[in-house]
Order: sequence, then C-alpha cells, then structure tokens
Amino acid sequence: MVPGIHLPALLALAAVTGHATAAPHARASSTCNTVQYNFPAGTNKNDPRAEAVKQAYVREWNQYAKYAFPKDDLLPITHNGTNDLFGWGATVVDGIDTAIVMGLTDIVEQQLKHIASVDFTKSAYIVDFFDVNIRYLGGLLSAYDLIKSGEFAGSYDDDLVDALLSQAKSLATAISPVFDTVTGLPAADRNFTTGELEQSTTTVNGVTYNSTNTAQAGTLILEYYRLSDLTGDESFRQNAQKAEKYLINPSPAPTYPGLVGTELDTDTGDFITFDGGWEAGVDSFIEYLIKTYVYNRDDSLASDMKDFWVTTAESSIQHIALSPYQNPQLTFLSQMDTDGNIMWSMDDYACFAGGNLLLGGKYLDRPDITELGVKVADSCHWLYNHTVTGLGPSSIGWFNGSDQVYDSSYDTSTYRAEAAKNGGYFIEDPAYASYPEPLESIFYAYRVTGDERWQEYNWQIFNALNTTRSKAVPYAEITDCDAPYGGELSNYVASFYFAEVLKYLYLTFAEPDVVSLDKCGYLMIYGFIGIVKSLHVHMWKEIMQILVYEVEIVAAGSSASVETL
Ligand SMILES: *[C@@H]1O[C@H](CO)[C@@H](O)[C@H](O)[C@H]1NC(C)=O
Ligand SMILES: *[C@@H]1O[C@H](CO)[C@@H](O)[C@H](O)[C@H]1NC(C)=O
Ligand SMILES: *[C@@H]1O[C@H](CO)[C@@H](O)[C@H](O)[C@H]1NC(C)=O
Ligand SMILES: *[C@@H]1O[C@H](CO)[C@@H](O)[C@H](O)[C@H]1NC(C)=O
Ligand SMILES: *[C@@H]1O[C@H](CO)[C@@H](O)[C@H](O)[C@H]1NC(C)=O
Ligand SMILES: *[C@@H]1O[C@H](CO)[C@@H](O)[C@H](O)[C@H]1NC(C)=O
Repeated sequence: MVPGIHLPALLALAAVTGHATAAPHARASSTCNTVQYNFPAGTNKNDPRAEAVKQAYVREWNQYAKYAFPKDDLLPITHNGTNDLFGWGATVVDGIDTAIVMGLTDIVEQQLKHIASVDFTKSAYIVDFFDVNIRYLGGLLSAYDLIKSGEFAGSYDDDLVDALLSQAKSLATAISPVFDTVTGLPAADRNFTTGELEQSTTTVNGVTYNSTNTAQAGTLILEYYRLSDLTGDESFRQNAQKAEKYLINPSPAPTYPGLVGTELDTDTGDFITFDGGWEAGVDSFIEYLIKTYVYNRDDSLASDMKDFWVTTAESSIQHIALSPYQNPQLTFLSQMDTDGNIMWSMDDYACFAGGNLLLGGKYLDRPDITELGVKVADSCHWLYNHTVTGLGPSSIGWFNGSDQVYDSSYDTSTYRAEAAKNGGYFIEDPAYASYPEPLESIFYAYRVTGDERWQEYNWQIFNALNTTRSKAVPYAEITDCDAPYGGELSNYVASFYFAEVLKYLYLTFAEPDVVSLDKCGYLMIYGFIGIVKSLHVHMWKEIMQILVYEVEIVAAGSSASVETL
C-alpha cells in the first residue's frame, strides 16, 4: 500500500483510468484537494538558490560532524557538542529528512548508520515527551516514508531503512508510560533509568495542579496515527486519540471558541489557563488539527479536529487578528494572558500560522482563511525586513487600536519611537534562535499563490543568515536581530536549523513538485517534515542560559575573524 494514499482512492483512480493498479504516487484525486498554484512546467528548474541552500546544509553538517557528532547539538563557538536532547543524536535524527529531500546521499548514509546504532530505550537524561515526538519520532517516520517513496536520490541498505521504523516503534513504546496518568493526558517527562514519570505542575491562584501543556498533548497524533498505520499496532493511535479528545472538547470553555489555553490538569482533563493564541504552548496543537484531517479525512476524530480548526481560524479572524495602531497593513495574531485577555503581543512561533492557515484555507476552499494566512505571512516577513540583520525577533508587542499597550512598562518614549519607526510595534525579545516559522509561512505562501515575491523574501532571509559569521563559525544563533552583526553570537545550533530552516528555504527554490502539497502521499509525509518544532519557551530559556557563550563581535574591519558577506 502506498503511504498515505487510501485504498478507496486507489480503487477509485483505477476505475477512472481503467488500470488495474495505480502507479505509485499517482495523484489520488478523489482524496486530495489541490493546494498548490498551477505552476508552469519547468518552474525553478536548476535554480541556483536551491543549490546555495543545499551547500549551507553541507557546510553546517560538516561542522557538526567534525565537532559534535553524534551528540545532540553543535556548540559552534566552543567547537564541541552537547547532549541536551537525551543523547540520541537529535541533529542527526531531526535533520535527516532535509538531507534526503536534498539528495545528500553520503550524509544520509552516515545518518542512517548512526540511527540504526542507537538504543532509544535508554537515556541517562530525563526524557521530554514533546521533543521525543517532534524531533525524534517525526524525524524517524518522515525519513522512512521519504526513502520508501522512491522519489529522492539514493539507494540505501534495506536494513538501515527498516531500522527507521523499528526504532520509531521502540522509542514510542519506551515513552508510552507517560500516558499512565489519571486521564491519559501525557505527563511531561520520563526518567528512563527508573521508568518513573516526572509530572510537571502548574500553580494557578495558589492551587498546584499536575499539568501538561496543549502543545505537548496535541503534537503527537500525526506521528502516532502514522506509526499505527505502518506497524498495525493500534495502541499508539488509541493513546493519541484519548489525549486529543480533551483538547477539542475543552472544559471549561475558552474565552473565544477554538482558542484554548496552554495548561491542562492531567488529573481531571480540565484547562487551568486560558492563554489562547497561536504561540508556544499551543502552536503545533492547532497545526496538527488540519494536518491530521489532510492525512486521513475518513477518520471521524480527524474530521472533528478539522471542525475545531475551522472554529479556531474563524475565532482568530474575529478576535485576535489585530493591526497595530494606525498600521492597517500589518496583521498579527495576539496571544492572551492566563485569564484570557488579549495582550497585543505575539511570539515568533505564532508566525507558523500564516502557512497553516494557507494550507487549511486552500484545502477547505475558505478564501477568508487563506486571506488571513497571507496577511500573517506578510506581517512576519515585515518583522524580518525591518531589522538591522534581516532576521526576526523572538517576540513583539504593539500599540493597540486605542494606542495603548497591555504592559505599561512598554509605554515609554523609547518604545513609542521604535513603534513609530517600525509599523506600530516594538521588539520585546530580540534573540533570533534559528526560527523557522516565518520561512515556513513564506514557503507555503509561495507554493499556494505562485507569487515570486515570496521567493525573494526567503532569499533575503537566507542571505541574512549568511551575514553574521566568522571563518571559524559558519553559522550561530544571535542574541539581537536588531543590532549590527546580531549582537553576540550564541554558542548553539538547534537541530531544527537542519530540520526546518534549511528545509523550507530549499523547498522554496526547488521545483514545485518536490514535496508537492498536492500529492496525498507527500502531503501526509509533509505533515511530518513540516512540523513546527515549537519548544516550550521556559525550557528554551533554560537551554539558552546554559549555552549562551558571550563572544564579542567587534565592528567589521576591527577583527580579522569577522567576515561581512
Ligand atoms: C565545550 O567546550 C567548552 C570550552 O572548552 C567547555 O567549557 C564545555 O564544557 C564543553 N561543553 C561540553 C558540553 O562538553
Ligand atoms: C532518575 O531517577 C534516579 C532515581 O531516583 C535518579 O538517581 C536519577 O538522577 C534520575 N535521572 C535523572 C537524569 O535525573
Ligand atoms: C499528582 O499526581 C501524583 C501521582 O502521580 C499524586 O500523588 C499527586 O497527589 C498529584 N498532585 C496533585 C496536586 O494533584
Ligand atoms: C527588505 O526588502 C527590500 C525589498 O525587497 C530589500 O531590498 C531589502 O534588502 C530588505 N531588507 C532586509 C533587511 O532584508
Ligand atoms: C487597548 O488596551 C487598553 C489597555 O489594556 C484597553 O483598555 C483598551 O480597551 C484597548 N483598546 C482596544 C481598541 O482594544
Ligand atoms: C553564504 O556564505 C558562504 C560561506 O561564507 C558562502 O560560500 C556563500 O556564497 C554564501 N551564500 C550566499 C548566497 O551569499
């Protein structure tokens, strides 16, 4: 059976064409809605920009291979690696799908060998369920599907390819006790040495609850559906469904329908905070609602998830899609505080919404939703285009319709001057930590509208990524996107630089039928390779505190090691 193409569709196709069997990856028109613009043949053929992005992957992989392999992440300034993601080689597993799509066969071979050698049932670290799903399970399953599709360069040892699936199963089985909570909502972490669950807790109004967050409980159903479909073991699907039901039947009801908060009580299944929006803590829960439906629209839970997604999108249009004071050309998606009040602020993670709204709006033929997707993608690009580096901030706030801010500490002449210069908003946190979300939305905007201006945008961002560097450090994250050379370099390269940043950049310049959003098989696969790797903000901050290594970036010319490109 062809991954992602459902049997009835194949039969329908066979009936139409009169062939007994459909060619693998033929478009199963009866289950796939057209999402992409109808690009003329030859679009992007041999575009040198795709090759430039591919070379950036090779360059950065070589740094990782030289200094950090097989540790989780590269520390590019101290030239070593760190096991901050359980010690299984997060960069390898997270980044392999991009290498497959790029046809970097030598690198893929090395990655496959590493993956087959890992014991995913053991870790000396506390294992976080969320990162297990988005980086490891997502990486393993998409690599398996992509290679099995036969559409990409390279032929690999069958045992190594099969190991991708068996490792995914073994990891998902090892982590499955996280579902042993009172409700079945997954606990946050597991100690792999003792097997004990580590409950996270949230205190609201002086009461402490065992808790999980929305993104944690809602960013697994695609992987778990796929794992059950590939292995025939239904336990994965059942666990995911049980958790999902609390999320799409929220109790108590959120402030605005479809815009649920970030924290749930794992003992009762109730929401305990009401900080809705598309930001970290919720983000990929919303993303998966529509992608699960695209993956299998015959599934009744997936159909309910689609309905919930439509409610989320409609509520977003009505309540939280807001423009800064006197700047109607910008539309941001506001987050809410824990009581459900609008905050007129947005983090970078929420920028994935542009692409998600475009995908779902087009798939469901909802021009109102698609229109919001374009606005959000444009506004997130604007954030990048108005900084000194051409890269964007972690979060912004803005002056609202009555020229006021949520947090009065931002109501100063400095922030007002910044807002007057930028478009009514100001930067709250200027760090750029390899964020893929704006790139992702720009990629979708290009594939859906066919407008080449989106390619220009991603090309500008790619060039911006190239401008803060030294010979010894080809790429590092930066502490201030609005300072010359990015302020200080951070001693860290997230695995999603490989997994997402370079993938979305590459696909923006690749021929549009490479990972086409119109092919069921790909769309399904794309669900994995397109996952928003949202980190919990608090965890991210901890990582940064440990890893920020202050390197003085002196002005160009006064240091031989700083290249300006
Ligand atoms: C990386 O190298 C630096 C400098 O030599 C050292 O201080 C640090 O402990 C190393 N980090 C790890 C995770 O090994
Ligand atoms: C796992 O639990 C054991 C026993 O309580 C403890 O010694 C160990 O430090 C824990 N592992 C981690 C990474 O905290
Ligand atoms: C959290 O769960 C543990 C069992 O895992 C239980 O003993 C404890 O009472 C719970 N705490 C709260 C605040 O409900
Ligand atoms: C902003 O966009 C303009 C027009 O596309 C471009 O010329 C300029 O280089 C961009 N600026 C940055 C900082 O990316
Ligand atoms: C702007 O924010 C202020 C302070 O939070 C609030 O009182 C006011 O109602 C808001 N205005 C609009 C138009 O939302
Ligand atoms: C990006 O930087 C690398 C390394 O300095 C360089 O070789 C490459 O040409 C740059 N790419 C672009 C598009 O400028």
